Amino acid sequence: MQLTIEKAAVLKEVPMEVKSFGKIFTDYMFVMDYTEGEGWHDAKITPYSAVPFDPAACVLHYGQGIFEGLKAYKNSDGTIRLFRPRANFERLNRSAKRVCMPEVDVDFVMKALIELIKLEARWVPSAPDTSLYIRPFMVASEAYLGVRAAQQYKFFIILSPSGPYYAKGLEPVDIIVEDYYVRAVRGGLGEAKTLANYAASLQAGEEAKLKGYSQVLWLDGVEKKYIEEVGTMNIMFKIDGKVITPPLTGTILPGITRDSVIQMLKHMNIPVEEYRLSIDEVVKSYEAGKLEEIFGTGTAAVISPVGKLVYQDKEMTIDHYAEDSVSMRLYKELTGIQTGKIADPFGWVTIVE
Ligand SMILES: Cc1ncc(COP(=O)(O)O)c(C=O)c1O
Repeated sequence: MQLTIEKAAVLKEVPMEVKSFGKIFTDYMFVMDYTEGEGWHDAKITPYSAVPFDPAACVLHYGQGIFEGLKAYKNSDGTIRLFRPRANFERLNRSAKRVCMPEVDVDFVMKALIELIKLEARWVPSAPDTSLYIRPFMVASEAYLGVRAAQQYKFFIILSPSGPYYAKGLEPVDIIVEDYYVRAVRGGLGEAKTLANYAASLQAGEEAKLKGYSQVLWLDGVEKKYIEEVGTMNIMFKIDGKVITPPLTGTILPGITRDSVIQMLKHMNIPVEEYRLSIDEVVKSYEAGKLEEIFGTGTAAVISPVGKLVYQDKEMTIDHYAEDSVSMRLYKELTGIQTGKIADPFGWVTIVE
């Protein structure tokens, strides 16, 4: 397939400093169309603009849509790096299958992404802890009100410079265990990055914020007993020297940061295990003084230590995120690899050139 580039008549001014997330968009976007029987076509990089949608477009009624999130980093010599971008497009394809959408050609969308980033290089911030957030997404664009998989789709990549997640170094977050709402059940959509999962999570998230917590920790949707994941992060617990994280049983997002951290822990000779950890086991280990660290893993914050975890009337406080804590070591190591400050022994980085 041909990739065409339509140049913008006027370019926007790049802000001197970026503090926000997801509010500023660059000059260009990538878009391509899919029509059943024809496949993907009309791939182009065009000036960023509003997109007309038929009011009957399937995504607007039945939520047939998926997305991804990854980042590009610029270091002091101006080199731009992408962190495991193929893994995002491969996950996008798995999400697509789950909601009956067409897959994309990973090599082609990688090429399109690299062309787009090259064109937008001036938008990749280089200040510490900043990045260019990349949002690929696909929606059902066919105008049809019947409930079935659509026959037309649009795939986009848009870019948004984003500021540091933490204002000053790693700041532990407070999280509440959600024991009323559930996010996903086995056989549902949990492991796919679909629009519906995020809509389903909003009410719990808003209620948690009103109570002063940054996110919720989800329990399994059946027994409300086993730990699943946090709003936009996977979760890990360091108990008695061992890092434990829930297994990928279909209800949680298979995070790329989660996978990277598991590989890094093995590389660091720190014991790591994937098993169904119950909230009761967490409380018991806290009471026994064995709950050493809790941290979220995800593209946005990379590593997010949890300072307080609240479950019903039990408040668990963890305040020892010292320089030699596993959370801190992982944060430094992973952000170092992403930004090119330290060597990448895993081959995770793609240099944009
Ligand atoms: C529900 C959920 N879990 C986990 C993650 C972490 O995934 P990743 O490490 O690929 O960013 C995210 C972020 O995309 C998420 O939205």
